[in-house]
Amino acid sequence: MLNWDDFEATDEPAINAKPAQSPRTQEPQPEPAPAQPTAAPSRPATGNPALAAARQALKGLDPAPGLAELEMGAARIQVDDKQMINCRADLNQLVPFKYDWAWQKYLDGCANHWMPQEVNMTADIALWKSKDGLTDDERRLVMRSLGYFSTADSLVANNLVLAIYRLITNPECRQYILRQAFEEAIHTHAYQYCIESLGMDEAEVFNMYRELPSVANKAAWSLKHTQTLGDPTFVTGTPEADQELLRNLVAFYAVTEGIFFYCGFSQILSMGRRNKMTGVAEQFQYILRDESMHLNFGIDVINQIKLENPHLWTESFQQEVTQMILEGTELEIAYARDSMPRGVLGMNATMMEEYLHFIANRRLTQLGLKEQYPGAQNPFPWMSEIMDLRKEKNFFETRVIEYQTGGALSWD
Ligand SMILES: [Fe+2]
Ligand SMILES: [Fe+2]
Repeated sequence: MLNWDDFEATDEPAINAKPAQSPRTQEPQPEPAPAQPTAAPSRPATGNPALAAARQALKGLDPAPGLAELEMGAARIQVDDKQMINCRADLNQLVPFKYDWAWQKYLDGCANHWMPQEVNMTADIALWKSKDGLTDDERRLVMRSLGYFSTADSLVANNLVLAIYRLITNPECRQYILRQAFEEAIHTHAYQYCIESLGMDEAEVFNMYRELPSVANKAAWSLKHTQTLGDPTFVTGTPEADQELLRNLVAFYAVTEGIFFYCGFSQILSMGRRNKMTGVAEQFQYILRDESMHLNFGIDVINQIKLENPHLWTESFQQEVTQMILEGTELEIAYARDSMPRGVLGMNATMMEEYLHFIANRRLTQLGLKEQYPGAQNPFPWMSEIMDLRKEKNFFETRVIEYQTGGALSWD
């Protein structure tokens, strides 16, 4: 750990630098006033044209334009000024909190921090490289999963930072989106780490989203829903534009992260439960924990926007959202059939279809919409134990401490 005592004073202290003394022994002192561009320079700029130019530039600094549309000297922000979308209040001030649920998810996400290199991949490498370690169907399933996910999390990350971020107008949600964006980077890292560790053909895996129909169709569906918002000239503020933002949120949070991930997750986690590819499965388990929170954050965002803008949630728009969930479910079922042409690991495409109907019902219910697959049951109850859809909070409460002590996740 760094110690302030390790830092020695330089011969020439910078302008406004504090004395080189440990802050723990130093008497409390008022913070020095910020440097004033017009203050008399402590050191002449003679002979240093760069310093002279810097001082000249600061003389013209006007704080107002840098604060864009904010009124200088306006009243301080009140909680009621904050809104999910189309907010004109200052977005640079995190507090006072209004959306505590978003801030709490940011804290929970940070508490779950992990890195791919912490997972031991030795057994996976030996199993993957041995001739009779895995069946052809098992190998196909691993390849398909890494093929889809290796680019899917980049699609999600790009949608977050290039489409959603600037349109969600409160700092609590933005704080979580920044955390989520980093987690998506970690997930892409994890898939790359698995692919490299196993010595797979990287070009084949990373190009699957453009070359293999069952994978490409899912990616294309997601990409279709980011195009309008990805245009830098797109703005919200009309009912049509605000509904377009909602379509994007449904497409990415409820469908991409809420349906497209579930066939692959359950296949790889089923493998881990059978003591095969346990390193890959452990990576997926950490990712699933993060994704579960991304999904729930997205659902909260959508429902909060609905609450604040009930005029957007029309009957016809509800039908449209329901159709989007069904389209996503159909694509995921097609992916299940392609990745699992025969029964494997105690599952088959028919069971996966039932599972996806169950998942789709959950997404519809979470958005306040009617279930479309009445009576669908969960054929993989162990998935709920790993990531309990109804008791998500308990899941995190029991697992977070375990991870923070550095222990590996258990497959019990
Ligand atoms: Fe992710
Ligand atoms: Fe995610």
